Amino acid sequence: MRKVPTAILISGRGSNMLALAKAAQSPDYPCQIVMVASNVPEAEGLQRAADLGIPVQALDHTPFEDREAFDQILHHKLQESGAELICCAGFMRILTPWFVDQWKNKIINIHPSLLPKYKGLNTHQRALDAGDRFHGCSVHFVTADLDSGDVILQKKIKVTPRDTAETLAQKVLKIEHPLYVEALRKVAESR
Ligand code: GAR
Repeated sequence: MRKVPTAILISGRGSNMLALAKAAQSPDYPCQIVMVASNVPEAEGLQRAADLGIPVQALDHTPFEDREAFDQILHHKLQESGAELICCAGFMRILTPWFVDQWKNKIINIHPSLLPKYKGLNTHQRALDAGDRFHGCSVHFVTADLDSGDVILQKKIKVTPRDTAETLAQKVLKIEHPLYVEALRKVAESR
């Protein structure tokens, strides 16, 4: 089986990245992680990826004049890595339409809500404020519109009266890891 070369973009802790990277170590997982890149050089996840022997790329976005300039460099680094798929995993930057167009149907993202509900930030508090009985996470294709591409897989949890934004974040993160592993498998195998 040919493993699809896959890059992961992160901005922080990288627990989803780690779940994907560990899954990819299995011989029957259809992806190989060829690079982990972060726009935040001190992101904890970069060290975690390096510890697994994955090439890492710290690409601080702050010195760049605009989003386009950053995305062009990121695009070149991804091309150099040989990546054919990109997973955004807690990557907290909006990608430009130009970048998304270069990688059409090849970028996926995990988002902590049951899309199309709660695009953007503070999803857990918004679910609580709305009195939702269910909350969860979605893996979707990335398009030029924020958190709006086709959903690949979703998973639900029940919201209890005791839940806070913090408990929901913990519960959702726990179901994100296996969901992302399954969704990436699905995308890679359907290529
Ligand atoms: C995850 O909960 C992910 O869904 C969320 O950031 C967290 C990253 O955690 N992503 C977004 O909010 C994207 N808009 P991780 O760094 O431990 O994987």
